[in-house]
Amino acid sequence: MTRWTTTVPGDKSLTHRALMLAALADGACRVEAALDAGDPRTTAAALAGLGVDVAWKTGMVTVRPRAGQPFVSPTEPIDCGNSGTTARLLLGVVAGLPVTATFTGDASLRGRPMRRVTDPLTEMGACIEELNGPDRLPLRIRGGNLHPVEYETPVASAQIKSAILLAGLTGGVEVRLCEPGVSRDHTERMLRSLGVDLEVEGHSVRLRSPGHRLPAFRFTVPGDPSSAAFLLAAGVLAGVPVNVEQVGLNPTRIGFVPVFERLGIAVGVEVMGEELGEPFGRLSVDPPATLHPVTVDPAEIPSLIDEIPVLAVLASRAEGVSVMQGVAELRVKESDRLALIAANLRALGGEAVAGPDRLEISGCAPVPGGVVETGNDHRLAMAFALLDLVPGAEVGLNERTSPRVSFPGFFEALDEVRRRAG
Ligand code: S3P
Repeated sequence: MTRWTTTVPGDKSLTHRALMLAALADGACRVEAALDAGDPRTTAAALAGLGVDVAWKTGMVTVRPRAGQPFVSPTEPIDCGNSGTTARLLLGVVAGLPVTATFTGDASLRGRPMRRVTDPLTEMGACIEELNGPDRLPLRIRGGNLHPVEYETPVASAQIKSAILLAGLTGGVEVRLCEPGVSRDHTERMLRSLGVDLEVEGHSVRLRSPGHRLPAFRFTVPGDPSSAAFLLAAGVLAGVPVNVEQVGLNPTRIGFVPVFERLGIAVGVEVMGEELGEPFGRLSVDPPATLHPVTVDPAEIPSLIDEIPVLAVLASRAEGVSVMQGVAELRVKESDRLALIAANLRALGGEAVAGPDRLEISGCAPVPGGVVETGNDHRLAMAFALLDLVPGAEVGLNERTSPRVSFPGFFEALDEVRRRAG
């Protein structure tokens, strides 16, 4: 079988951050190979609503920050759509600025917890009003006049960590935070590359140069390793060796690699360069004849948090019982992923049980068949679409539009794998 060499669209987390940091920079910035998908477009529209000049042309975004104050108070609510990263990181950015803004989102985002970021931001001095009940959007925030904070986050979350760091940056105050595990560290890497004094020690981060004005920058966004994971898994299920080039290889994002290896998949990781502190290069897989069951520990979860759906789908094709522990955060993602993963595996003829913080999958049931309820969750739609590649499978999805928020072209890429599998 010849190897399929491909690329994936730009990294979602990095695109959001690049656009936001560009809006705070000292001159026009260019973000190349930005992810042109629903979620980053939401961030671009939110920044435009806050008065920033954002021009998105095919493959490149030019951000021209305002002179003086980076943002103005918007007249309309900022609609964060389906994007938790847009809402939570921008709340942090706005918290440090003399701006009043209302944040809202779609039905899924309005059902997700917000106090995890509004609590620390309130402790720093931001005024935040919950407009429709506790812990939820819509929220009105009045920023400015912050004071330093030392904060222990209840969960390992890059969105909480980034919101606090960005508030310290725009508000000009020192912050120190500690998290129970190491979440993705894109904000730290990018800020450091742009000259911000950050001290990182194990699970704790300290922002020591608050108020630092970021220099103008150019950034080429590496491919999204989370999107790559779907194509690598597609290759495994269809028996096609796959290379994904120019993909982000930040170690806090590719915790799925050792789990792939424990499943019995040979994975290659080759770093070829770095952009704003973010390593990128090649990921490759060679499909094995059979998959082994795996145990995934709580300490591993933050580095593969978005890959649990795809790992669960692979585990459902392994011979034996796989267990993932410490996965409660999946209940508050774009859907209750834990419940939907288990329910859909069962609907396709498999065996799976979701506990409050645990997922157990008995693999290698009959050939999967049935229709998947995605809960309009992009990662569930993409993960379950892979099962249709299993020889003899007949797996349908109740919708195919949700992947547009993070991976435009996903279904076409899957068709290519199917074509190559012959
Ligand atoms: C993200 C952080 C993660 C992840 C999400 C993107 C980010 O969320 O699941 O898809 O860009 O910071 P949490 O911070 O809630 O774990």
